[in-house]
Amino acid sequence: MKRFLYAVSLALSLVGCSVDHHSASSSVDARVENLLSQMSLEEKLGQLNQLSAMNNIEDMAKQIREGRVGSILNEVDPGRINALQRIAKDESRLGIPILMSRDVIHGFKTIAPIPLGQAASFDLEAVEAAARIAAIEATADGIRWTFSPMIDIARDARWGRIAEGYGEDTYLTSQMGAATIRGYQGSDLSDPTSMAACAKHFCGYGASEGGRDYNTANITPRQLLDVYLPPFQMAAEAGAATYMTSFNEIDGVPSTANAYLLKSMLRDAWHSDAMVVTDWASSAEMLAHGNTADRADVAAKSINAGVDMEMVAETFIQNIPQLLKEGRVKMSTVDNAVRNVLRLKFRLGLFDNPFVDENKNVAYSPEFIEKTLKLTTESAILLKNDNSTLPLKSNVKTIALVGPMADAAYEQSGTWTFDGEPSHTVTPLQALQALDGVKVLYEPALTHCRDAKAAGIASAVAKAKQADVIVCVVGEEAIMSGEAHCLADINLYGKQKDLVEALSKTGKPLVTVIMAGRPLTIAKQVEESDALLYMFHPGTTGGTALANLLFGKDVPSGKTPVTFPYMVGQVPIYYNHKNTGRPAAGTELLIDQTPVGAGQTSLGCSSYWLDAGFGPLFPFGFGLSYTTFEYSNLQIDKQVLSKADTLHVSFELANTGNYDATEICQLYVRDLVGSVTRPVKELKGFKRVSLKAGEKSKVEFDLPIASLAFTTLDMKHEVEPGDFKLWVAANSDEISNETSFSVE
Ligand code: GLC
Repeated sequence: MKRFLYAVSLALSLVGCSVDHHSASSSVDARVENLLSQMSLEEKLGQLNQLSAMNNIEDMAKQIREGRVGSILNEVDPGRINALQRIAKDESRLGIPILMSRDVIHGFKTIAPIPLGQAASFDLEAVEAAARIAAIEATADGIRWTFSPMIDIARDARWGRIAEGYGEDTYLTSQMGAATIRGYQGSDLSDPTSMAACAKHFCGYGASEGGRDYNTANITPRQLLDVYLPPFQMAAEAGAATYMTSFNEIDGVPSTANAYLLKSMLRDAWHSDAMVVTDWASSAEMLAHGNTADRADVAAKSINAGVDMEMVAETFIQNIPQLLKEGRVKMSTVDNAVRNVLRLKFRLGLFDNPFVDENKNVAYSPEFIEKTLKLTTESAILLKNDNSTLPLKSNVKTIALVGPMADAAYEQSGTWTFDGEPSHTVTPLQALQALDGVKVLYEPALTHCRDAKAAGIASAVAKAKQADVIVCVVGEEAIMSGEAHCLADINLYGKQKDLVEALSKTGKPLVTVIMAGRPLTIAKQVEESDALLYMFHPGTTGGTALANLLFGKDVPSGKTPVTFPYMVGQVPIYYNHKNTGRPAAGTELLIDQTPVGAGQTSLGCSSYWLDAGFGPLFPFGFGLSYTTFEYSNLQIDKQVLSKADTLHVSFELANTGNYDATEICQLYVRDLVGSVTRPVKELKGFKRVSLKAGEKSKVEFDLPIASLAFTTLDMKHEVEPGDFKLWVAANSDEISNETSFSVE
């Protein structure tokens, strides 16, 4: 087809009635071919070159005039963007618009919770709506490409970028990534509010060894196929317009030169025509990796592996002319990369109109704030609530609000908040002070989360003693998670632990709120608190959401999208683990229970830690409510199914408590015997079910048997016959509602 279109456009240009690549009437492919046929080599390489915005606009303008720029990242001033687009359109030879891009990761101006927090909502509609808001706000400024969603599976809370993805589960991450792509791209990329999504980081970045960013990822081929790649395949099915190569290597091959990922999977297996961009200088970083000899080798290995556009490294534009002469790169390879770039620009409608209305202000609209508040509220996870401490009762008149995160507008938005303005953020202090009938005694106690001075704790304790209840807001500053911000220890940092301990000794009801970019090891704080709410950096509406939850205007529904380790030595720890040949029984003696002089084998020989047992502090999918829910009457419509069947699952859910609330019901399956070992369970479905107090309803899941496929011993992706267990549950540890079926 492409050859035919090229021939047509070539023929038309020869007879003097060339396809006008600016006219919207011709098909995108025809416009691409026509434009490509007119481009010089330098102009082609210019389209593969992405610059980072420079202060001096003339520096960018010069390169644009010369046709050396295909995309710019990090220019966000609409006036400057219009000026640069005007130069591209009127002062470059072919008038090709610039693809303006930005890391719009969890909001542009209105900041939603970090993606890990969004995942805790298990609310795909709300997540899609948040991405739509981000797209409307960012495109209004002229940004038409975001480097999001990050769909790296992360099982290691030491890794700072766990904040940026959707947690440890492949199914949840796949669903969340697709919802975010839909939100950004809408139904028509040419809509001026549509923003090209970027499925990143392709692939395996979350497996960075030791939870240390940019480190080697040791992933087996089967794990790659069954754990890390599926979210990227789902992204292709959702129409992700671009992909970004990851910094890491897999088994010695940096992703920026990994043809297995960029060609065999993305093009041959998934049939994606997305544009592939490197991560920031990840091409040139292959010199440090040691799989390339020089910058020419970098360019050759990257573009030959399937990279289309190079972010800031400029090895393509500097070396490919010579590489073409040497035959190390073919012109057809360059042309295909340019096609992928031009096609995206045509699809985005940039040739028809690359400009924005500089006077249009859509940021922070009441609708955006309302929708973001809903998602933020749903993202909060209630981890403990002894004696129904929450919601706070009407007799609570004085609150001691303490802690370094109680009024930290910038910090509460977390990592990758480039354009959100703290002045628009509502902190817990602001939200509580706005409540009628509540007196707030505020004492940060620490100047910031890493404050090593404990002097302020005494005044916090003094205020606590005057209050009916203590609300202590601690956690991580924004800088303590995100890219390159990894931790070898994930305890609550510094004197925050002392603060919580001191407050717990006052005897006053203690509600601890943690705002962080990762799951922290908080066993001691859980023990010391009467109630504990976890808010992965909640963003612009975090304070309002918290106040509404504290006083019961809303009821927590969030569930952990990632396992909370009991201690960092357990990491990596995740729910869908293998059983091993010696699974822990859970009854093993721990180190402090072990008799002195115990015999070598007296403790038994199973897979656990003497000083940490086996299980986590909180499992995947865990979260409490102010009400209680009861699962019963689990039914399946067949006991024996074929591979083409769909299993219909139903059960009854009752709200057995006193609050109208929402439960995130989860569906787990275990393949009991495979040609290779299988996880002890895998999430295969989830549903948010809202019930009034006392209400009961039937909940149904449809489970396609095809969804039980995995990479078998002979590396085929298929469902194997055999027996399966199935659970519907409130979290991944819950096994009381179990049934079984078999596949023939
Ligand atoms: C960064 C990140 C990537 C981001 C890019 C552009 O290093 O790894 O996620 O999109 O560079 O800022």
